[in-house]
Order: sequence, then C-alpha cells, then structure tokens
Amino acid sequence: MHVTLRQLNVFEEVARQLSYTRASEALHLSQPAVSMQVRQLEDSVGLELFEKLGKKIHLTEAGRELFHYSQAVNRLLNEAEEVLESLKGLSKGRLKVAVASTVNYFAPRLLASFSKRYPGASLHLDVTNREALVRLLNANEADLVLMGQPPEDMELEFEAFMDNPLVVIAPSDHPLAAVKGISLQRLRQEVFVVREPGSGTRQAMERFFSDHGLDLRLSMEITRNEAIKQSVRAGLGLSVVSMHTIELELETRRLVVLDVEGFPIIRKWYLVYRKGKRLSPIAEAFRSFVMTEAGNI
Ligand code: PGA
Repeated sequence: MHVTLRQLNVFEEVARQLSYTRASEALHLSQPAVSMQVRQLEDSVGLELFEKLGKKIHLTEAGRELFHYSQAVNRLLNEAEEVLESLKGLSKGRLKVAVASTVNYFAPRLLASFSKRYPGASLHLDVTNREALVRLLNANEADLVLMGQPPEDMELEFEAFMDNPLVVIAPSDHPLAAVKGISLQRLRQEVFVVREPGSGTRQAMERFFSDHGLDLRLSMEITRNEAIKQSVRAGLGLSVVSMHTIELELETRRLVVLDVEGFPIIRKWYLVYRKGKRLSPIAEAFRSFVMTEAGNI
C-alpha cells in the first residue's frame, strides 16, 4: 500500500465533511483535484472508501477504519512538529538571567555548564543586588532571577534550589579565630563592615541581630563582596557574608569563619520569575537545569 500524507489529509477532510464540495472549499482545492486524490487513495488501498446513497456520500467500513488511523497519524505529526519547534527554540533561544551579586560566585559556573548542554543558546547575565533585582522583576526585564528570599508583596513564582549559609568572618589572626561558641554579646565589642542597605545579605544580617536584641557597631558600608573581604582581611572589622563568597579565602586561610552562637544563619537561594510569565523553551530548560544541577556545581 503506497499512501501519501497529502492523500490522507484530503481523505480526512472529505470524511469529516462528508461532502466533496465542502472539503474542496476547506482545502482550497478544486473539486476534481479532491476527487482525484481520494480515487488514487482508493486505488492504492484496493478498497472503496466512500459510497454514495442518494445524494449523500458515506464512509464505507474500510473508510471508517482508515479515518481512525489517519486521525492518529495527523495527531502524531502535529505532536512531532511541536516538539521540533520547541527544540528549535532551545538551540537558538536567548536567555536573560539576573542574579544577586552573592549568587555571582557560582552563577558563571552554572551558566557555563548549561551552555555546554545548549551550545546554540545566547545567554545574558546581569549581576546586581537584591533591590535592583526586585526592580528588574517588576519591569519584566529578566526571564529568570536567582536571589535570596523573594519579596512577599509581589506576584511571583519561586522555588528554593540551594542553602545559603551566612557566616561571621574575620582575618585569620583575629583573637576570636580559635574561640569556640562565641556569644552574640561578645560581638558587641567588635565593629562590622557591612553591605549596602539594598543587599539581601545586609537585610538578613540586620533581621538576625535585631531579633536577638543586638545593636552592632558598623565601621564601614561597602557595596561589593570582594571589597568586604579585603576590608576584613585588612582588619577594618568583622563581617557577615554568604559562605558561597569565601571558598578561596577559606582554602588559603586568608579569612576564617568564627564559631558564633546562632550561626550560620541558613537562608535559601531561590529561582524566581513573575507569576503568569510564559517561560520560553530555553528559560524552561534553564529552570529545570538549576533545580537539578545547582547542588552539584
Ligand atoms: P545580595 O544577595 O546581598 O548580593 O543582595 C542576595 C540575597 O542574599 O538575597
């Protein structure tokens, strides 16, 4: 049996309309062209597909069987087309990700490994603090955002993908460096270098200390994690930072994590986007990549 997709399409339309005239209108073909396609199909299956009773045409038993199969074939073809279209979107898609400055310590590794998996995708990474991320979300200017606790007063979809422990850091020659179980009260004697007010780390730190009725003495406000670490090393004060920002300094013992009661403060990293936003195939692929791979990276 040699059947073409074209013949099946024409047959299906005639079977649905039970009229050559209406089928030819729907298919934008002439009536003789439609009849010819059906006749060729009948020839190649070796059975009549329609019978004429009075003025009307009806499906024969063979016609009913073939109608059933041709609908299944068309369903599968449509499904294949959708899958292939979404793969086109994946290989050529553009993805705009915005991350908190603290996330930037692992975001490039995450994006590098994602782009190995989807080499055709073009990626754009914005690195900024929490306050600016909220503005980007509001303006719908990022596909996906990786940040700390999402704002509660916005309509957002969010999923936690990793722990974000905040710790107290000091230079390795600090008198408290080897002390176990340092009390929060003891921290009153120290000064702190802190991030700017728009930083999520700063907000979490302030909330923690105010929940414990503690007023810290601040020595300096600095907008960059890198500069915070340099200042702590230089003896300007202690600081509270995400564990993810100090991997190298801990390895080389340029900084130490103090053993302070109540620490680490465990926060989470979230993948966030606006509620109702339709994620493109590439954004959807990144979302599921972050949820499954971020922990390994
Ligand atoms: P940030 O980190 O301090 O760089 O703004 C984001 C967060 O912890 O929410």
